[in-house]
Amino acid sequence: MKLWGGRFGKNTDKLVEDFTASINFDCRLFEEDITGSIAHCRMLAKTGILTSEESEKIINGLEEITEEIRQGKLEFKAELEDIHMHVEKRLTEKIGPLGGKLHTARSRNDQVSLDMHLYLKKEIIKTVRLIAGLQKSLMVLAKNNMEAIMPGYTHLQRAQPVLFSHHLMAYFSMLERDAQRFKENYKRSDIMPLGAGALAGTSFPLDREYTAELLGFGNIYENSMDAVSDRDFVLEYLSNSSILMLHLSRLCEDIILWSSSEFDFIEIDDAFCTGSSIMPQKKNPDVAELVRGKTGRVYGNFFSLLTVMKSLPLTYNKDMQEDKEGVFDTIDTIQDCLEVMAPMIEKISVKEDKMRKAVEEDFSAATDLADHLVKKGMPFRQAHKVIGELVVFCLNQGKLLKDVSLEDLKQFSLSFDAQALQCLKPEKVVDSRNIRGGTSREQVEKFLKRAVEIQKGNEKY
Ligand code: ARG
Repeated sequence: MKLWGGRFGKNTDKLVEDFTASINFDCRLFEEDITGSIAHCRMLAKTGILTSEESEKIINGLEEITEEIRQGKLEFKAELEDIHMHVEKRLTEKIGPLGGKLHTARSRNDQVSLDMHLYLKKEIIKTVRLIAGLQKSLMVLAKNNMEAIMPGYTHLQRAQPVLFSHHLMAYFSMLERDAQRFKENYKRSDIMPLGAGALAGTSFPLDREYTAELLGFGNIYENSMDAVSDRDFVLEYLSNSSILMLHLSRLCEDIILWSSSEFDFIEIDDAFCTGSSIMPQKKNPDVAELVRGKTGRVYGNFFSLLTVMKSLPLTYNKDMQEDKEGVFDTIDTIQDCLEVMAPMIEKISVKEDKMRKAVEEDFSAATDLADHLVKKGMPFRQAHKVIGELVVFCLNQGKLLKDVSLEDLKQFSLSFDAQALQCLKPEKVVDSRNIRGGTSREQVEKFLKRAVEIQKGNEKY
C-alpha cells in the first residue's frame, strides 16, 4: 500500500511506478534527507508538537537508517518512488506507527528542496576547494618557469611576446572569477525552505528559525510558494559550472596546441597522456581533449534544466524532479575535471628554447620598434606605417627582425638609433610592459605574490 493509498481504488501500474520513480538517483541525497528529518523532528519536540520521547525514538531510528544505507543494507525499490518515502517506510518498519509522525507539518515538496539546498551547499564548498587546487598548479608551473618567453597570440597569429607565466596566470584569474561565482551561489543556496509545507505554509506552530539554526542555514524563505518552486540555486550552479568548463576547455585547447609538433612548446607528462592502438609513435593529450569534450554535457545539463523550469506554473510540479540527474552529472564532471587537471598542469615540462625560437623567428617585437619611434616624437600612425614597410623589406630579404642592422633601419627612418636594436630583445620587450597587469617579470612576480593569498582563501573556504 502506498503512503497515499487512502485516496486510491487501484494499485499503481508497474510502468508508472518505474516511470515516476527517482530513487535510482535521489538516493544520493540520503544523508541530507535524514539530517533534515532529524532537525525537523528536534524542532517538533521543542515546539511541543511531538513529545521528547517520541522525538528520541524517531531520531534513533533515523540514525540507524543512515548506517543501514551507508552499509548498503537498505534495498531501494521503484515502488517506494524516492528517498523520502524509503526513509519514512523504513522508519515505520523500525518504530511502528510513530514513524508516521515525522511527516507532521512537512511535505515532500519542502523536504526535497531542503535536501537539494543542503547537498549543493556541501558540493559548492568542495568545488571551490578543487578550483583552489588547480589555481595552485598554475601558480607552481608559472613560478618554476619565470624565464620562459613565448609568443602571445591574437587571431592565433603571433602578436607580442609574453611570459609563459603571464599566459598561465590569465587562467588563474578566470578561475578566481569562477570561485567567486560559486561563493555567491552559496549565499543563495543558504536558505531554508522547511515550513513551506506543500506550498502554503502550515497550521502547526513551527519554529523555522530553530530548524534553520540546527541545519546551519543563514536565511529562511520568506514565501512558502517561492520556497517549493525555486530551483534558481541549482541553475546558478549549472551556469557557474558552464562558465568554469568554458575556461577549462580554453586552457585544455592551449595545452593541446602547445604540445603538438607544430608548436612544440611543452611536454605533457607521460602519466597524463595515452597512446595509440595502431601508431606506435603517438602520445595523445587525451585528458585535455576529454575535459574539452565534457564541456558539452555541462552546457547540456544547464540548458536542460532551464528548459524544464521554463513556464512552469507555481508551485511544485513533477517536472522539477528532473533537476537532479543533470546537476549530479555536472557536479561529478566538473569535480573530476578539476581533480585530474591539477596534477596534469603541475607536471608539464616547458621547452623554453623552443618558445624562444618562436619568439625570435617572428615579428612580434614590431610594436616595440614602432613605440621606439613614437618615443622619439613620431605620431604612432606614422610609426606603424614605417615598421610595416620594414617588415615587408625583411620578408623580401628573408630576414628576421633580429637580423636587421641599424643601417637597414635608417633607410626607413632617421629617427632610429642604437637603442632600437636593444628593444628587439625578447626580455626587453616583455619587461618594458611594466604596468600593473602587464607581462613584465616584475609585474608577474607581484601578481604571483598576491595570488598566494587568493588561492589560500579558496583552499580554506
Ligand atoms: N521525488 C520528488 C522530486 O524529486 C520529491 C517531491 C515529490 N513531491 C510531489 N508532490 N510528488 O521532485
